[in-house]
Amino acid sequence: MNTFGTVFRTTLIGSSHGNLVGVIIEGIPPNLEIDISNIETFLARRAPGQSKVTTRRKEKDKLIVEAGLFKQRTTGEPFVAFVRNSDVDSSYYEEIKDTPRPGHADYPAFVKFEGANDYRGGGRFSGRMTIGLVIAGTIAKQLLKQVGIDVRAYTKEIAGLESEVINTTEDYIYSEQNIVRVPDNEMIESVTNAIMKARKDGDSVGGIVECTINNLPVGVGEPIFDSIESKLSHIMFSIPAVKGVEFGSGFNAARMKGSEHNDEYFYNESQQIRTKTNNAGGILGGISNGMPVVFRVAFKPTSSIPKIQTTVNLQEKGKLESLKVRGRHDPCIVPRAVPVVECCAAIAIYDLMLQGGITTHAD
Ligand SMILES: Cc1cc2nc3c(=O)[nH]c(=O)nc-3n(C[C@H](O)[C@H](O)[C@H](O)COP(=O)(O)O)c2cc1C
Repeated sequence: MNTFGTVFRTTLIGSSHGNLVGVIIEGIPPNLEIDISNIETFLARRAPGQSKVTTRRKEKDKLIVEAGLFKQRTTGEPFVAFVRNSDVDSSYYEEIKDTPRPGHADYPAFVKFEGANDYRGGGRFSGRMTIGLVIAGTIAKQLLKQVGIDVRAYTKEIAGLESEVINTTEDYIYSEQNIVRVPDNEMIESVTNAIMKARKDGDSVGGIVECTINNLPVGVGEPIFDSIESKLSHIMFSIPAVKGVEFGSGFNAARMKGSEHNDEYFYNESQQIRTKTNNAGGILGGISNGMPVVFRVAFKPTSSIPKIQTTVNLQEKGKLESLKVRGRHDPCIVPRAVPVVECCAAIAIYDLMLQGGITTHAD
């Protein structure tokens, strides 16, 4: 499927080295103000070449809005936006088309699409496909913000080095100002060094992104199949290289007692019902409960690494090849994936709000 969503429907178009990558969004309510420069800012946060810990590949992601916007306001028609793929060099992908990269999608895609898929730059399996998610997500984020809902993501962990996420506005701003997007001052240097070491060794590292959705009204989420967890997991697993998603106390819940895991209720100073702890990650029965929605997303280490690995030759049965992946790949996907997680969370939550008819913030 190329489309995500029930009411706010996001369809990804294009491929890494084709003419363009972008998005068609259906279901945006009319007459809402959209800030295009904010979308461009987010595209720059996702783009490669932004610091020494990302790939040095430069992509000029110039946003073209083709339909759906008039005088900065949504018209109610499908919103169509994309960036052109300029300056692509596909020659290397021709060289390795018969020797699938271990850990990348080359081999299963070759079988499924009978070799007809556009393998250049990883085709539909490229991190570049997340451009469409960032365009749609930035719009969803803006629309959520208009009703007071805030989506923030941070680097929680890279190469096993964990940061403390406190989720204050200052933490968020701070994490956006450092190249590894950690909210924890003490961790920047060690995390940066771990990525640089992996690059020097011809290797890569993975990590975890934590995301928080603040001020979500009680009652968002459509049980059973469109629970908040289902929708967020669905879209998170659509981000390339994601290997796990956990909510609240996550897998650790399995090691707790009921008395430890239950979040006890109280009335806050505004007489709103809240819980003392948030092991549920803001979700009960698939529905928001008024606490921040908190989840974590695990990213595997980048598969395209210069270290020599063994693969097969797809054209000559039985023949093994050694492969040294060339090209400029991220030694760690996590810093660039942070805004992508944030955008995907906004897409899923905004869609659920429209689905549930919840357009204001009150509980
Ligand atoms: C923002 C972003 C950038 C990425 N950059 C690279 C990259 O430079 N090299 C690479 O091999 N994979 C990269 N990936 C991951 C691959 O696209 C992904 O591993 C591949 O499609 C296989 O899918 P899977 O890992 O989900 O199984 C990136 C992913 C994201 C989200």
